[in-house]
Amino acid sequence: MAQKDYKLWLQYDKKTEVELLSKYLSDVQGIVSLENSATSKIASNELEVGLSEMFGKTISLKSKVEGDKNIIIGSKEVLSSDIQKEIGNFDQINDEGFIIKSISIKNKNQIVITGKKEVGVLYGVYHFLRLVQMNKSIKNLNIVDSPKTNIRILNHWDNLDRTVERGYAGFSLWNWQKLPDFIDQRYIDYARANASIGINGTVLTNVNANALILTPQYLEKVEALANVFRPYGIKVYLTARFSAPIEIGGLKTADPKDAAVANWWKNKAKEIYKRIPDFGGFLVKANSEGQPGPQNYGRDHVDGANMLADAVAPFGGVIMWRAFVYSEHDANDRAKQAYAEFVPYDGKFKDNVIVQVKNGAIDFQPREPFHPMFGAMPKTPLMIEFQITQEYLGFSTHLVFLPKLFQEVLESDTYQKGKGSTVAKVIDGSITKTKLTGIAGVSNIGNDLNWTGHPFAQANWYGFGRLAWNPELDSEVIADEWLRCTFSNNENFIKPVKAMMMESREAVVNYMTPLGLHHIMDTGHHYGPGPWVSNLSRPEWNPVYYHKADKNGLGFDRSKTGTNATAQYAPEVAKIFDTLETCPEKDLLWFHHVSWDYKLKNGQTLWNGLALKYQEGVNQVAAMQKVWNTTEKYVDEDRFKEVQMLLEIQYKEAKWWRDACLLYFQQYSGKELPVGVEKPT
Ligand code: GCU
Repeated sequence: MAQKDYKLWLQYDKKTEVELLSKYLSDVQGIVSLENSATSKIASNELEVGLSEMFGKTISLKSKVEGDKNIIIGSKEVLSSDIQKEIGNFDQINDEGFIIKSISIKNKNQIVITGKKEVGVLYGVYHFLRLVQMNKSIKNLNIVDSPKTNIRILNHWDNLDRTVERGYAGFSLWNWQKLPDFIDQRYIDYARANASIGINGTVLTNVNANALILTPQYLEKVEALANVFRPYGIKVYLTARFSAPIEIGGLKTADPKDAAVANWWKNKAKEIYKRIPDFGGFLVKANSEGQPGPQNYGRDHVDGANMLADAVAPFGGVIMWRAFVYSEHDANDRAKQAYAEFVPYDGKFKDNVIVQVKNGAIDFQPREPFHPMFGAMPKTPLMIEFQITQEYLGFSTHLVFLPKLFQEVLESDTYQKGKGSTVAKVIDGSITKTKLTGIAGVSNIGNDLNWTGHPFAQANWYGFGRLAWNPELDSEVIADEWLRCTFSNNENFIKPVKAMMMESREAVVNYMTPLGLHHIMDTGHHYGPGPWVSNLSRPEWNPVYYHKADKNGLGFDRSKTGTNATAQYAPEVAKIFDTLETCPEKDLLWFHHVSWDYKLKNGQTLWNGLALKYQEGVNQVAAMQKVWNTTEKYVDEDRFKEVQMLLEIQYKEAKWWRDACLLYFQQYSGKELPVGVEKPT
């Protein structure tokens, strides 16, 4: 039964409704693949296996188009001219896009899945299979779809010893010791799952990088993985440790302006591309949290990024340079630092550099306002970085449907080019017109049998891929797709469980960090509550730095009476965040230090409102448990029990959060808990 977990959303369960089945069979009799490459074999095999399993009947692969009711797959150039004519204009799609169309040729009905390139055909095949998985009609199809971003990438924070930084689903998938000769089936299944949702890149190694990955001993292994992933349309990228020229190159410096250093990177790039001609490029964390970088030599981010960009440019490589920087020497406001450090460089990076910015200005909190850098660097490609692994959201123990969080950020309006300048439109390039675009997600994948630890954390991987493809997709649509493909099409299951997923993100905000609180998790590991003073050396690693609770109230004044972080947003946005009355209550304590007696919109004082929010979070988890307990008949026993046990832990821990935070903040508010909030036991 564990196999069910392992199959992710690619479950091809046999259709049991006779009517539905006969409808499908009246449309599909065979499959014809017009190409013979590794990618097209993957596509035709997936169709053959998927349809045969779902239809309970072999749908076989034919060698040529004969008769009707075939699914014909192939890229534009191998389609006959009469099929091409029926398909119409290929300019409607980009190089990775697809068209699925029901056509009639010589009175014979066929379904064609095509694209400009084979990888588009593969994406089209997965889309078609999803229609069948979801019991959708496959009559009169005319689907035209293309990804809106060009780098759709997972960031694995995987170390060479197979531990995973902030990984909660076992060890790293990459078995460096057995590579390159031993190809674990998991690498193939990983590539397949990613291709099925349009992910086209993977950074194999931790942003806190180890230079050894760039030595021939490891590059040989990376090459083996790249060979597995290539036919699935996935490029491999690596993290580049800035000091690698010293550590593995024997140089005395890693100064980006030093000719020998630049040359070392050029040769390193040459060496990598010789092995992996489609190598994607480097992801770099520099001068952040103790990592080496150009500033160690009195240089800046532009010097560092452009030097690496020159090394990979001849081969079409890209540098993803992270903007996650903050310094312990500037205790004023960590949230302002990345903007202050990067925005002055707008327009100075080489064409093949894309700056990777976390969704918010602090660090993957349950809720953060969007990062002020979005829209503020119109001449620089920016990619967004989300965290799929739940570092601050209860690890893989808590059920949290993250696409809801991702959507909230993507649809935030930056106003940087007037109303409608959403974060989604910044990162898909439609506002800035930058050529490079991308979305990165810090992976939640490990070698656990079910890949992601929590069965519902699979939905976060799935949803990340779908949003990377189309940043304007609705998270509810994503939840619906995922549930149908992963569990069941039964409406009695879908409706309540979808509602549960949609609510789960707000639940976690409520029981961890309501009303704009942030970074009050226990320090270091970030699991569980820890709003109290920690013994960590850096002030901005200390939770009290963020909540600033005192006798007068609670919250971080980032308005113009405080650190003025609000001024980093466009004036329209700054104005809203700046004043207590207009600041959305969900972000209140992010931007303001608010008196305990301040009246919230619902008439409650801040203290009472806060306490009631914590209680609401606990109640929401209790409600999630209730919903899940009704699903037993729709779900296999293993997954049912797993989720049930995990929700029980989540419930216990929601109470733990409520009690710890309220008891702690009560020292400052000096007030009783309001009616309706359970007393700590
Ligand atoms: C967080 C996280 C670190 C990680 C860092 C980063 O601070 O706790 O483990 O290295 O983000 O994104 O670089």
